[in-house]
Amino acid sequence: PTVSMQLKKLADSVGETLYETRGRKLYFTDAGQRLIAAGREIFDVIGRLDSELADLHGLKAGTLKLAVVTTAKYFIPHLLGPFCARFPEIDVSFAIGNREQVIERLERNDDDIYIFSHPPRELDINVVQFAPNPLVVIASRAHPLAQRKRINFGDIVNEPFLMRESGSGTRLAIETFLAQHHHTLNVRMTISSNEAIKHAVAEGLGLAIVSQHSLAYSSAPDICVLNVKNFPIKNDWYLVSVRGKRMSKIAETFVDYLQHEGVAMLRQKASA
Ligand code: PGA
Repeated sequence: PTVSMQLKKLADSVGETLYETRGRKLYFTDAGQRLIAAGREIFDVIGRLDSELADLHGLKAGTLKLAVVTTAKYFIPHLLGPFCARFPEIDVSFAIGNREQVIERLERNDDDIYIFSHPPRELDINVVQFAPNPLVVIASRAHPLAQRKRINFGDIVNEPFLMRESGSGTRLAIETFLAQHHHTLNVRMTISSNEAIKHAVAEGLGLAIVSQHSLAYSSAPDICVLNVKNFPIKNDWYLVSVRGKRMSKIAETFVDYLQHEGVAMLRQKASA
């Protein structure tokens, strides 16, 4: 009721009908859509002003706005740690979602920097590749395949697999790999969390294909990486920003830090 009242006030002040309801659904009118677009522009201008004012203080103030896909959440905090220690007065807003959710943020121009392994090529963006993101097959340590030295992918496609939800970049990479190798998987369960997938694999519910980062940076339960031919699937991490958007000094410094120091830190951790 509070929101409806505010919407009514807004419609009265604009002098236009902003939305219509059909059944229980709400649809924005053309006027409503334009008002939304104008609102976004206003917030964008205010955000820019904030970062321009912060730039006047060098790297001593301001907010670094980051949005990353779920698999990147494993390593980004480890890279943010030393960065924030170097610039203790900055704030960081750190959003996490699957590929589709991060694309929605990118379309709304919510953040300074986005991290994807499958950037949306159809959008007007800057894309910089910065590190590898290999995908591996995992199984419970108790699984008979855990002892096998060399496994053909064709031999495991009938095993039950646990798969990420649609909208996930990991799933997209797996589907692309399957199409290239003319395979289909026996998907037993769809789970929208890397952590839950690892626990389900540890419980023997099936095999899964996950980013190696999701193993290196968290307490992996009782699981192991299988030695499967044609694996790991080669993927990369990309830093993405909206083309033409003015980057704050903090964001520029963070991109530079990721490219020059972050990559080495990731490599060190992966080989640890
Ligand atoms: P996601 O992230 O599977 O959570 O979408 C990884 C990726 O985009 O590759």
